[in-house]
Parts: sequence; C-alpha cells; structure tokens
Amino acid sequence: MIDVVVTDLVVEPRAVGTLGLLLSDAERARACRFASDRDARRFVVARARLRQLLGRRLAVAAGSVELARGAHGKPRLARDRDATLRFNASRSGDVAVYAFASGREVGVDVESIRANPDAEGIVARWFTPREQAAYRALDHTRKPLAFLACWTRKEAVVKALGEGLSCPLDRVEAGLAAGGPVRAGGHSWSVRTFFPAPGYVAAVAVGVSAGPQSLRPADGES
Ligand SMILES: CC(C)(COP(=O)(O)OP(=O)(O)OC[C@H]1O[C@@H](n2cnc3c(N)ncnc32)[C@H](O)[C@@H]1OP(=O)(O)O)[C@@H](O)C(=O)NCCC(=O)NCCS
Repeated sequence: MIDVVVTDLVVEPRAVGTLGLLLSDAERARACRFASDRDARRFVVARARLRQLLGRRLAVAAGSVELARGAHGKPRLARDRDATLRFNASRSGDVAVYAFASGREVGVDVESIRANPDAEGIVARWFTPREQAAYRALDHTRKPLAFLACWTRKEAVVKALGEGLSCPLDRVEAGLAAGGPVRAGGHSWSVRTFFPAPGYVAAVAVGVSAGPQSLRPADGES
C-alpha cells in the first residue's frame, strides 16, 4: 500500500518558528541559504512536516528522526529503525506531497499547472517518440496539463529510482496518462497521476514487486 499525504505550506509565521525547532542543524543552515524568505519558510514547513509524518510512522519524536541521502541526494532514514519504510517528497508553490511505502521504493512529483513556454523543446528532448506523438495529437488547450502530467510521471519514476534528473528522462516511457507498468532502471513501476490541490498535478511511482529494489547506498546527513 502507498500512503500519500498532501500539505499546504502556508502557515502562520509563529508556527514556522515552532516547526523550525524540529529541523536538524544542517536543515536549519540550508533554510538560511534560500534567497527569498518565502522559499525558506516553505522549506522549513515541508521538512518539519516530513519529520512529523516519519516520526508518527516510526513512533519517535519528529525532531529525532535521522535522515541521510543516497548517492544522488534521495533522502532516506539514516538508521534502520524501520528497515522497510521508504518515502519521497516533492513540493511546488504552496503544496508539498509525500509518499510512503513499505518494502518498495517510491517517488513522487508535484507541479503547479501553468503553461510552460519551453514545453515544445522539452517534449522534443525528453519525451519518448510515443509520448511525443500522443502529446502532438492533442488540442492545444489540453497540452499544458498533458505536458505536466507526463513530466511528473517521469520525475516520479526517476525519483523512485533515486537518480534524480541525472537519469535520462527520454528513456523513461511513463506516458501521458494511466497505462501498464513502466519499465525503468531494470524494474517495473506502477505510476499514478493525481490532483493534490486545485491548480496542481502530481504523480506517484512505486515498485511493482517488493524486495529487489533496495537501491540505497548512502552517505551524508541530510
Ligand atoms: C530530485 C530532483 C529531481 C528534484 O526535482 P524538483 O522538481 O526540483 O523538486 P521536488 O520538490 O520535486 O523534489 C525535491 C525533493 O526530492 C527529494 N530528492 C532529492 N534528491 C532526490 C533524488 N535523487 N531522488 C529522489 N528524491 C530526491 C528531496 O526530498 C527533495 O526535497 P528537498 O529539496 O526539500 O530536500 C532534482 O533536484 C534532481 O535531479 N536531483 C538530483 C541531482 C543530481 O542527480 N545531481 C547529479 C549531479 S550533477
């Protein structure tokens, strides 16, 4: 089962201060590096919320959850308090989306729905021939959403793999909408599109079979 949680990142300024207390020193230092206060607040709320959600699942205090990162930066639990718990997070604008799964790698991506002036170039560069054909067959009014639906599906898969955008997206045939399992990185992924809040589209990808997808060498503290 996958557990998906959606959070509104707009909270009262006083609450941001309280939530900030849950972050590690490294996370607080990262919050200070954002150029805009609004982005710093969004980061603090999103990371604190992630800690709360993990803490609840692990039955520990949110502030004591220890996070590390995989080779390409994918956050994971630093200690195997729950060796089977996998999670991923994404945020766009004022919305954060979290996905949790047991024993299966998981990836999630959310984007605010707006027309992207670079869409045609991105489609030509990063969509598979079949995705390009499906996109080009659409009426122009349906293209902005279809573009983001396909993009979030691809990103959810590469985030499940943990490779981030270092993975060539043009080799991930995720499609514009629901279909059969997606093959990527030697594994099969189930990918779902959903709408976490008005004006946002998201996708979540989870490994089809449990077990062999423990893709988790890791290094530093998050
Ligand atoms: C992960 C990545 C796809 C994020 O995309 P995005 O749309 O800008 O941002 P999102 O909000 O959807 O995702 C960010 C979250 O994904 C998670 N994340 C970070 N790296 C990740 C990875 N490799 N795999 C999966 N999830 C990752 C983190 O929770 C991150 O949240 P944080 O910024 O608060 O720490 C992108 O930053 C990336 O490709 N990172 C990897 C960088 C990389 O491979 N570098 C290689 C050296 S050139």
